[in-house]
Amino acid sequence: MASDITSIKLAKVGQARVDWAGRFMPVLASIRKRFEKEKPLKGLRLSACLHVTTETAQLMHTLRAGGADVSLCASNPLSTQDDTAAALVASGFKVYARRGEDRKTYYKHILACLDSKPHVTMDDGADLVSVIHQKYQKMVSTMVGSTEETTTGVIRLKALAAEKRLLFPVVAVNDSQTKFMFDNRYGTGQSTLDGVIRATNILLAGSVIVVCGYGWCGRGVASRARGMGAHVIVTEVDQVRALEAIMDGYQVMTLAKAAPLADLFITVTGDIHVIHKAIFQKMKDGAVVCNSGHFNVEIDLEALKKMSQSVREVKPQINEYTLRSGKKVLILSEGRLVNLSCAEGHPAQVMDMSFANQALSAEWLVKNKKKLKAQVYRLPEQIDQEIARLKLSSRGIVTDRLTPEQKKYLASWESGT
Ligand code: NAI
Repeated sequence: MASDITSIKLAKVGQARVDWAGRFMPVLASIRKRFEKEKPLKGLRLSACLHVTTETAQLMHTLRAGGADVSLCASNPLSTQDDTAAALVASGFKVYARRGEDRKTYYKHILACLDSKPHVTMDDGADLVSVIHQKYQKMVSTMVGSTEETTTGVIRLKALAAEKRLLFPVVAVNDSQTKFMFDNRYGTGQSTLDGVIRATNILLAGSVIVVCGYGWCGRGVASRARGMGAHVIVTEVDQVRALEAIMDGYQVMTLAKAAPLADLFITVTGDIHVIHKAIFQKMKDGAVVCNSGHFNVEIDLEALKKMSQSVREVKPQINEYTLRSGKKVLILSEGRLVNLSCAEGHPAQVMDMSFANQALSAEWLVKNKKKLKAQVYRLPEQIDQEIARLKLSSRGIVTDRLTPEQKKYLASWESGT
C-alpha cells in the first residue's frame, strides 16, 4: 500500500517543524552522523508504530542514515501531526497515519506498516507486536526483534513473556534510565499541563488538581502542577509511592475523598477505569477530566455516557457531559493522551534521549541477534551512561571521574574506617 496521509500539501510546514525539533536533539544527531559512516542497519526493513511527531521524524531519518528501510504508522489515532506525516512522505518514507482516524483505519494502517515484512519493529504501546503474535506469526522467522517505547507496552510484553508466548527478543527502551527518568517525568510533566492549558486555558494557580498515579509520569505532572501554583492531591494504590508523595509534600487520599474537591483530574496510571461511575457522581460541577496514560481506558467514558442526558463538543477537544442531575463534567480529547492530542507531546530535548535509546536498540538487536532469546531485555548500562554523557557534553558539561584508588575502594570490602 502506498502511503496514506491527510495531505502532502502540508509537507513544507511540517519540514520546518521537523527541522526545529532537530535543533534540540544533539544526541540523536551524533548517532545519525556515526550511522551515516558505519551503516549498522544496512539491508534492514524496520516498521515503526510511534506517535507521528516532529521528533519521531528525526528518529526516522536517523534509522535511514543507518541503512534501514523504514515504514511508519501511528501509535494513537489522535496524536498524528499531519504536517509531519506529509514532510516524511515528501522525504521518501512510507507513512500510514491520519490525525483523527477511526479504529478501522488505525488497524488498517498497522497492517500496511507490516506489509514490508520487517526484520525489526518499533512500538509505542506494543500494537505491532500484538498484531504479529495474533495474526502474522509466519512473519516471525525473518524477524530480528522489536523495541518498546512505553511503560504500558513493556507491561504487555512482560505478560506475553510470562506466558512463554513471546516469539522474539524485545528491548524495553522505556526501562533505560535515560528514558523513564526524563521522558516520563519531565516530558509528561510539562506536556500534560501544556495540553490542558492549550485545550482549556484554565488558570492552574490556586486550583485543586488530582493526579492519579505517582509513578514516573505522575511525579512529573504533580511537580509541574505545583510549580504553577496548584494545590495537588495524589492518589495511589502502591503504599511506598503514596508515602513518597506525602514526603514530597502532596496530600494523599482516596480518589473518592478527593473527587468533590478537585477542579482538574489527571490520570497517569496505565490502569483501567481509575475514574469510574462513583467518582463522577462525587465530582463538582464543571470538573475537567483528562488522561495522560498510554491507552484511553483510565476514564470510564461508557459509564459517564450512561449517566449523562447529553454530550456536546463545547470547544475543540472538549466534550461536555451533562449528567441527569444537571451537573457538567468536561472530558478532554475523549480520554486519550492529553499531551499528544491537545499539545505537541514531549519537548524534543527529552525525546532526544528516548529516541537515542530507540536507535541504539535497533543497532544492539542487529549486533547481538545470534545471542538473543525471546525475552524482554534492557539496554546495557554502558549505553545508558553513554547517552547521558553525550547529552551532558552537548551542554558543555564534563563530570568528575573515579580515580583508580576510588574504583578499587568502591569494589572492595576489606577496608572500613
Ligand atoms: P509507573 O508504573 O511508574 O506508574 C504508574 C503508577 O500508577 C504506579 O505507581 C501505580 O501504583 C499507580 N496506579 C495503578 N493503578 C492505580 C489506581 N487505580 N489508582 C491510583 N494509582 C494507580 O508508570 P509511568 O511510567 O508513570 O507510566 C504511566 C502511564 O503513562 C503508562 O500508561 C505509560 O505508558 C504512560 N506514558 C505516557 C506518556 C505520555 O506521553 N503521555 C509518556 C510515558 C509514559
